[in-house]
Amino acid sequence: MTASPNLQTSQMSTNNPSKTAIWNHLKSHAADVKTHNIRDLFAADSARFDHFHTRHDGLLFDYSRQHITADTLPLLIDLAKEMDVEGWREKMFNGDAINTTENRAVLHTALRRPLDQALNVNGENIMSDIQTVRANMRAFCDGVHDGSWTGFTGKRLTSIVNIGIGGSDLGPYMVCEALKSWQIEGIKTYFVSNVDGSHIAETLKQIDPETTLFLVASKTFTTQETMANADTAKNWLIEHLGDNAAVAKHFAAMSTNEPAVSAFGINPDLMFPFENWVGGRFSLWSSIGLSIALSIGFDQFETLLDGAYSMDQHFQTAPLEENIPVLMALLGVWNRNFLGYDAQSILPYDQYLHRFPAFLQQLDMESNGKHVSRDGEEIKDYETGPIIFGEPGTNGQHAFFQLLHQGTSIIPCDFIAPITSQNPLGDHHKLLLTNMLAQAEAMMRGRTLSEANGNPQKVFEGNRPSNILLFDGITPYHLGQLVALYEHKTFVQGIIWNINSFDQFGVELGKEMANAILSGDNKDMSNIGILPFLQKPS
Ligand code: F6P
Repeated sequence: MTASPNLQTSQMSTNNPSKTAIWNHLKSHAADVKTHNIRDLFAADSARFDHFHTRHDGLLFDYSRQHITADTLPLLIDLAKEMDVEGWREKMFNGDAINTTENRAVLHTALRRPLDQALNVNGENIMSDIQTVRANMRAFCDGVHDGSWTGFTGKRLTSIVNIGIGGSDLGPYMVCEALKSWQIEGIKTYFVSNVDGSHIAETLKQIDPETTLFLVASKTFTTQETMANADTAKNWLIEHLGDNAAVAKHFAAMSTNEPAVSAFGINPDLMFPFENWVGGRFSLWSSIGLSIALSIGFDQFETLLDGAYSMDQHFQTAPLEENIPVLMALLGVWNRNFLGYDAQSILPYDQYLHRFPAFLQQLDMESNGKHVSRDGEEIKDYETGPIIFGEPGTNGQHAFFQLLHQGTSIIPCDFIAPITSQNPLGDHHKLLLTNMLAQAEAMMRGRTLSEANGNPQKVFEGNRPSNILLFDGITPYHLGQLVALYEHKTFVQGIIWNINSFDQFGVELGKEMANAILSGDNKDMSNIGILPFLQKPS
């Protein structure tokens, strides 16, 4: 039997999504969808919300304001099947080395799996090491909280300073800020990331060496910024407490690099390891989350893990049509590749989530900002990860929303909000949520020339898509779900775009050049005329 030409194309090059038959089908479908605007689609279907929303365990995902028709998702789901999203999902959860460029498994999901559920990878149950580290973290947290672990002079440790950058900062920092109202009384957490000395200098001004615990968070324990900040903190501590031995009581490390940690002089009892199958931007669930556990207590840290596990289960078992991370990913692919939108705005309507867009920037852009395919080929036929940016509402409304409503680029938005507030003061929460809904509606509906009384400056094109994600409240559990949701969304998009979402070679060249400039070995670079001015401005 001869295969149809479409099937042949599809079988010959399934790794390149744009060479599949379904991709072409989606392209012609997009041309058709563009002839209707979202406002008209709403008008034509009073049950549009019913058709285009789904729920899971306290989360509600409303995608009715996306520029889609009833035919769009089935086609996108066919694309997901064609790219074998389900197969790759199983490989990830099972510990196959899907990070092919670094020949590593991708197992951050194991960190939130119930400890008594064995997971055998290469013949070894990896859950037993996870259990050991978890128990050590708990004992240390409890010791700091109940005062049985004190500083060098016998005082309780009440200031926690996390020193790390990228994934060793953004995740824990975002979570500690989000769960501030869950913080244990008497504990204050600080995050130092920037190599700019002002960051650590301003932090040191606020803390007392006798009551401070420094956490050096670095997967590699070689990152220039982190090591510079850790050295400065160590010197400051020794200078103030007058004894090198103080380091053993005031420094802990979370890393995969035990030799470097002990060379730094960290007490081996306070070295909390994790495995190299935990990527930096997926590491808040590992010992890198120690600042979170110290901030909110170990039980609540475990509740955060439970929330993520709930999302893992949903991602693994829900049919693709109802699977929130899959739907979110596919709608993102639709916007990026078929409607041609270059960016995405993340808009949490909750002040506690003010670092969430920054966290997602790394998660998404470091994972999917790539132009070389998993097979090592340059990607020429389609776009990969979009530009991610955002701010909490309502602040963003008074800044960049002008462009979101009336700019020449269309930027799909994710509106994210808890239904209940941690601080139910007066009408604040009602105002907040009403504003969010109004923004999503205004983007979608717009305002016609006649509605604007003939004034073209006041015309809003509308037809600007968004998602709304609601959850019961900012709790450790729901935050765990939310983060895992975006992790899986990012994963699914990477699979569809045929890229390895788990390496980050794009950050290397700048690091190498900085080292070359530092050592004066920059002869291979173009003539850097400005270099002398960095040392001595005119
Ligand atoms: O520069 C990028 C990066 O490698 C991130 O991927 C990582 O999260 C960050 O640096 C920090 O790395 P480390 O935890 O090894 O200090």
